[in-house]
Amino acid sequence: MKQHLSFKAFSKALGLLVLSVCWGCPADEPKVFHQVDFPPGFEFGTAIAQWQASGDYSPAGPVDSNWSQWAQMGNTHNGTLNPEGNGFYWKYESDVALAKGLGLKVFRIGVDWSRIEPEAGVYDEAELDHLADVVQSIYDAGMKPVLTLYHWTVPTWVQNPNPNSDTGAVDLMATTDRAVVDYFEGFVRQVIPRVKDWVDTYTVLNEPFSMISAGYIGGVFPPGKYLDFEAGTQFGINLLYMYARAYDVIKELDDGDADGDGANSFVGLTMTANAFYPEEPGNADEEFAVEQISYVFNDWIMIALTEGKLDVDLDRRYDNDQTSPPEGTDETLKGKLEFVGVQYYGPVMVDDVSWLVETPPLFGLPLLEVDEYNADLPHNGMKREISAAGFRDTLDIYAPYGVPMIITENGTTSNGPAQDTDEGQILGENQEAQAAMFLVEHLWEVGKAIEDGMDIRGYYQWTLADNFEWVEGHLQRFGAYRVDFEDPDYPRTETQLAGALRDVVTEMAVTESIWEKYVLDSYPTDQTETAGPTTSLNPVPTP
Ligand code: BGC
Repeated sequence: MKQHLSFKAFSKALGLLVLSVCWGCPADEPKVFHQVDFPPGFEFGTAIAQWQASGDYSPAGPVDSNWSQWAQMGNTHNGTLNPEGNGFYWKYESDVALAKGLGLKVFRIGVDWSRIEPEAGVYDEAELDHLADVVQSIYDAGMKPVLTLYHWTVPTWVQNPNPNSDTGAVDLMATTDRAVVDYFEGFVRQVIPRVKDWVDTYTVLNEPFSMISAGYIGGVFPPGKYLDFEAGTQFGINLLYMYARAYDVIKELDDGDADGDGANSFVGLTMTANAFYPEEPGNADEEFAVEQISYVFNDWIMIALTEGKLDVDLDRRYDNDQTSPPEGTDETLKGKLEFVGVQYYGPVMVDDVSWLVETPPLFGLPLLEVDEYNADLPHNGMKREISAAGFRDTLDIYAPYGVPMIITENGTTSNGPAQDTDEGQILGENQEAQAAMFLVEHLWEVGKAIEDGMDIRGYYQWTLADNFEWVEGHLQRFGAYRVDFEDPDYPRTETQLAGALRDVVTEMAVTESIWEKYVLDSYPTDQTETAGPTTSLNPVPTP
């Protein structure tokens, strides 16, 4: 603390802004701020997903999905159900106006397959019309709609985690016959003609690895499988082929250049993008585990969809002909990534490598920590650390693939960790100042990365208004706007993060005054002596 203050005094004297110490920097060297500018054409946006924002609501009656079943099975905090999300279904026009009011140019939506195709081959025309209305209203407001075709919710005939349902538990997402690829194609073929006049950019899949790990390894998302590597692997392979098929269908059916850039479509997917760190730098086992887990999270999908090289057993080789499907180069996957959506929420630390070290296919899968990477860093409501430097490290992982990047999600909670009471858990304390700081620090890293030559086309903040945060229900608030879930009209209230976003978008820069307004005022100063890499700002050069 004392040390930090003296850094501050020192650099103020130089007319510089000082932040915190950095790992790997020579001791006692302060960091300096410089303004970063976003190039003309850089697109700021927001991102939402239909189930999180509209829940099970449909005018014709509740939509049934793998996630509505999962909630009904009691798998969310406090057993909360999601009947209406945050009311987006009927509030979409005013939400589009809120996004526009922030100066945003992009509105990304994750489509809920279950509301479009409630039974195999039976399409809900009213829901298709509704989707078209939503994307048209975004377009008419002068913004670009971006569409995700798989954001974790699927119809119960595709996946139903509930063994007590009429059909029993169903999981076509993880079968080796790849039937789900054809089913997904059927759905995509219905959606594209309805949206193509307004949509050009498609983030086909949302974070495949999140669903593999939470659905089949951790067992906390549907279908709730625990350490089921075989099914998890097949699910991942199916997602790759679903992506490739959707890519082909979009290229075939989207014949309109909605954004006037000369191309009818721009197709990619979003990744659970993460830099990993060993608890003990230099420990060979941990370093190996970091490499392996980073490959599994960040690289194997990228390699499959750029080079077509398929690694089914995740051993970083492509020569096992005993896997299903056999490994090798698959032309149907190759060259299908026009951009990658990077989604970063915080650093992850490897703190134990003994677990599963001999277990195929995830050789060396370590135990991971997201909340004890560095206890001195500020934490959010999910207990995740705030490290913008980890964001830069993550961008460094994706840049070498040579495809344009879009930050399709990045965000944090405006609340602290949930508090336990006799009546169950309640929303944690208000941390909206910290959320605003998170935004500005992370945007600074994006600007710096562009300055350093990275091809980053846009930044979409997750998310516009508080919604249903998957198993966390209403206990985590990622919205730029706070939502009152007690009021049936779900009124929105602007948070400091929305103000910070508007300021950066207006300036098309993270200026010194924005940095001072949002970062220094709220940055915890008692963590600077031992803190990890909060940002990748450069140290002041030694005179
Ligand atoms: C998901 C969002 C989710 C957010 C915050 C992302 O991985 O795509 O749906 O709400 O994380 O947890």
